[in-house]
Amino acid sequence: MNKKIELRTERLTLRPVSAKDAKAVFNYRSDADTNKYQRWIPQTINDVDEFLNKVSSKINQAGTWFQFVIIENGTSEIIGDLGIHFIDDNQAELGCTLARNRQGNGFAVEALRSVVDYLFKTLNKHRIIGSVDPQNLKSIAMLERLGFRKEAHFKESILIDGKWVDDLIYAILNKEWSR
Ligand SMILES: CC(C)(COP(=O)(O)OP(=O)(O)OC[C@H]1O[C@@H](n2cnc3c(N)ncnc32)[C@H](O)[C@@H]1OP(=O)(O)O)[C@@H](O)C(=O)NCCC(=O)NCCS
Repeated sequence: MNKKIELRTERLTLRPVSAKDAKAVFNYRSDADTNKYQRWIPQTINDVDEFLNKVSSKINQAGTWFQFVIIENGTSEIIGDLGIHFIDDNQAELGCTLARNRQGNGFAVEALRSVVDYLFKTLNKHRIIGSVDPQNLKSIAMLERLGFRKEAHFKESILIDGKWVDDLIYAILNKEWSR
């Protein structure tokens, strides 16, 4: 599968992030309050450039992250991003970030639903997970709306800015997915 992959939903288009998206990504990713549970908050556009250099240019490569940008069809604006960590050949991890002013519209679930569907039905993955801070209630609600189950609560297992924080693991299996 090459870099040209594009997923469309009623209100959104997902396409691979590219270097020219750095400014748009910086605008919402640098919002430290909205993204307080994220491990990565860029301070400069250069930080975004470095991040974009690290993501895989090809989808479905075990051991790498692939990054979509989420575009609102109505405005053609980049409103967020959705990352897929291809953990191994059969399992993936998802992460989603929306600009603060686009949250509360069901966009994250709409984008994730199309990606989960693609991972299970097209790429035939076995299991998909989400890793979330127990205090990140919006993210937990989003995963539960999609049908992910809580599987684990790890105590102080992630170090963020010198502070050990808990980590919840949510998961869904291919055989549990229906749309
Ligand atoms: C996690 C995150 C992407 C969730 O965004 P979101 O907009 O709340 O997600 P959803 O797509 O599930 O939207 C649900 C909300 O839209 C509302 N909504 C409005 N119109 C809707 C529609 N047509 N369909 C579905 N939901 C709709 C729902 O009522 C719900 O609102 P509520 O939270 O007030 O109950 C967002 O909070 C975010 O970017 N956080 C910062 C980054 C982060 O921490 N990411 C988590 C790491 S994975």
